[in-house]
Amino acid sequence: MKKILLVLLSIVIIVGGYIGYTKAQKLLPFYQQLTQTHVGTEVDLQPKTQKEAHYVGAAKCMECHKGKYDSWSHSQHPKMIQDLVKDPSVVVADFSKLPKDANFKLSDATYTVGGKFKQRYMIRKDRNGTEDYVLGNYQWNVQTKKWQHFKPWKYWYKTAYPHDNEELPTSRACDGCHFTGFMSQQQRVDTGISCEACHGPASEHVKDPDSKVYQADMSDPVRQNEVCLQCHMRNRDKRLDDQNMSAIYGDARDYPFGYEPGKKLSEYKKVAPFTPGHETKEFYANGMGKKNRTQGNEYVHSMMSKHGITCINCHNPHTLAPTAQNNTGNALCMKCHSFGSLVGPHQKSLQAHTHHKANSKGSLCVECHMPKVGRHTGKSPLTVRSHAFGFVTPRETLMYDMPPETNACFACHKNDRSMQTLQKDLESWGMVGWDKR
Ligand code: HEC
Ligand code: HEC
Ligand code: HEC
Ligand code: HEC
Ligand code: HEC
Ligand code: HEC
Ligand code: HEC
Ligand code: HEC
Repeated sequence: MKKILLVLLSIVIIVGGYIGYTKAQKLLPFYQQLTQTHVGTEVDLQPKTQKEAHYVGAAKCMECHKGKYDSWSHSQHPKMIQDLVKDPSVVVADFSKLPKDANFKLSDATYTVGGKFKQRYMIRKDRNGTEDYVLGNYQWNVQTKKWQHFKPWKYWYKTAYPHDNEELPTSRACDGCHFTGFMSQQQRVDTGISCEACHGPASEHVKDPDSKVYQADMSDPVRQNEVCLQCHMRNRDKRLDDQNMSAIYGDARDYPFGYEPGKKLSEYKKVAPFTPGHETKEFYANGMGKKNRTQGNEYVHSMMSKHGITCINCHNPHTLAPTAQNNTGNALCMKCHSFGSLVGPHQKSLQAHTHHKANSKGSLCVECHMPKVGRHTGKSPLTVRSHAFGFVTPRETLMYDMPPETNACFACHKNDRSMQTLQKDLESWGMVGWDKR
């Protein structure tokens, strides 16, 4: 009898220990990242050898880094700006339906901007003898397959430019984030986002590979995110810190002008303002983005970010995958999370956490924790997923005056359950902790 008990006990210890170990083990690969000493946002991390360097373009990198080049070239980044004269097939709009009051024709445009959710058109219009562009007054909405008005001067800088597309240069409003080399050195070295947008100017490295370029994962998590946040964020012109809009009339920039990977982003970036409880054009009253390109604004406030998780833990910086593109499984999240663990979810099983069948769509992490809250244009469907990584209860959605469709539960249950019923469901599950915080 004693022997059997002893054997049973050791089995329990081994199995229990193993389960505990496997749960902790998931975060082990991230141990170094999560415990890295923060250097602070004021330290310049750009390698010295890059200080005098200039941008050379991705074609140069291909010679020695073919693998990285290939995976990057299939991603969305290099496709941001495309030359429609060189390759007319990049145009996704139906120009036969372009409204009569458009200020441009297809033959006037040089570059397309985007094409996955919406496409806009860059028309050459130099300023003071320098190459520059303006934007056509219509954009193609890929999601609705319709032309719609486009008036970028209505953005936050509406008191900095005349109310006319032809007077709003892309060099100030857009190009820093969409071309490579323009953010700091004002040169359009590559169309789209290429190697040096994240690694910094590499003319010295190309001559001598021992001459280092910046590699974001060498830095602490806060600084590591900066290479992505230079673009994936809503901003104001940094000069507004101590000047007013009229002082920068005709020159207001929508991107952190001067920034290069490794430099201290805070010196160049002024984040779009947000006060909890106040809805703005860009954010709901709880801080979630109403528009696209708010990933950074949301993420920096999340618990995930505060615990040292970074963009590149979920997005391979070269392929940009796995972004759970088809959102068919929980593997991405379960890379670190496990049931009944300290990092959560605290319940013992998937079903116990989600209260949906394991194979139900209602058991997909992303559906509840990254609901679609933003739109690409005023007339686009809700497709932009939140990067706040919280959970918004139906009660909270109503309280913050957010459209009910932005609520994760309601998005799936709009035909069979009201917001009030869904709130009661949650309460009956005892899962309203965040609501009460
Ligand atoms: C002549 C070949 C060559 C070219 C061209 C080249 N690299 Fe490299 N690169 C290397 C070698 C070799 C290493 C490894 C150096 C080491 O381990 O110290 C390297 C390392 C790197 C690293 C890791 C960080 C570092 O500095 O060690 C990055 C990032 C990088 N290269 C980016 C680029 C980019 C971006 C370009 C194009 C602008 C480029 N490389 C062009 C040969 C090249
Ligand atoms: C969107 C930002 C981004 C772009 C664009 C980008 N990289 Fe990187 N790259 C990173 C980050 C972040 C890392 C470190 C993390 C990693 O390796 O996944 C990295 C790592 C590397 C490394 C070191 C890899 C290793 O295994 O040690 C090389 C070499 C490199 N990149 C080359 C390139 C080249 C060449 C291009 C263009 C064809 C490119 N990168 C484009 C962000 C980027
Ligand atoms: C220089 C600006 C810039 C930088 C730096 C940058 N991005 Fe992007 N990113 C963009 C733009 C612009 C798009 C939209 C591209 C398009 O639709 O053609 C985009 C698209 C994406 C997408 C969506 C891809 C898809 O298939 O729809 C992901 C994911 C992404 N970026 C992640 C990152 C991460 C992670 C980093 C940092 C390692 C980063 N980006 C750095 C500008 C940038
Ligand atoms: C601070 C950097 C930044 C500035 C400035 C900026 N963008 Fe973007 N843009 C991005 C990023 C990052 C994305 C991709 C992320 C997203 O859409 O959520 C994007 C996405 C887009 C897309 C959608 C791409 C697609 O494939 O559907 C279009 C179109 C676009 N921007 C046009 C513009 C225009 C026009 C301007 C200037 C009036 C501008 N952007 C200014 C960073 C920027
Ligand atoms: C915990 C994982 C995780 C982290 C961290 C994360 N993302 Fe994402 N991201 C996702 C998932 C999942 C999607 C949804 C992909 C889909 O639906 O196709 C996504 C989508 C995106 C998209 C596409 C947006 C769109 O509307 O289609 C962009 C751009 C993006 N992320 C950028 C970033 C940036 C920049 C950071 C860092 C500030 C970041 N992500 C951090 C998981 C993450
Ligand atoms: C690289 C590791 C990693 C990945 C991948 C990851 N997480 Fe996390 N997550 C964490 C850590 C660490 C925490 C902080 C845990 C804590 O607060 O104790 C966290 C916290 C959270 C929280 C709680 C936030 C809060 O405010 O308390 C949610 C929700 C969450 N993650 C959802 C997700 C989802 C959804 C995915 C997949 C899209 C995901 N996580 C992927 C590591 C990760
Ligand atoms: C991605 C879609 C999706 C999301 C998000 C979602 N559900 Fe569901 N829900 C379903 C589906 C599908 C079913 C059908 C049965 C099942 O899978 O358990 C269901 C079933 C239910 C049921 C049982 C209904 C019945 O008649 O038996 C309740 C209650 C419920 N969900 C409440 C919620 C609440 C509350 C939330 C938010 C926390 C939520 N759901 C989020 C898709 C979703
Ligand atoms: C049906 C919606 C739903 C789905 C699907 C869902 N969660 Fe949650 N999750 C919640 C709610 C609601 C809370 C808030 C819990 C509370 O207040 O007690 C939560 C809380 C959490 C937390 C915080 C810690 C905790 O246990 O309270 C983490 C971490 C988390 N979820 C991760 C995940 C991961 C990983 C997945 C996918 C395997 C997932 N969730 C799927 C609704 C969901």
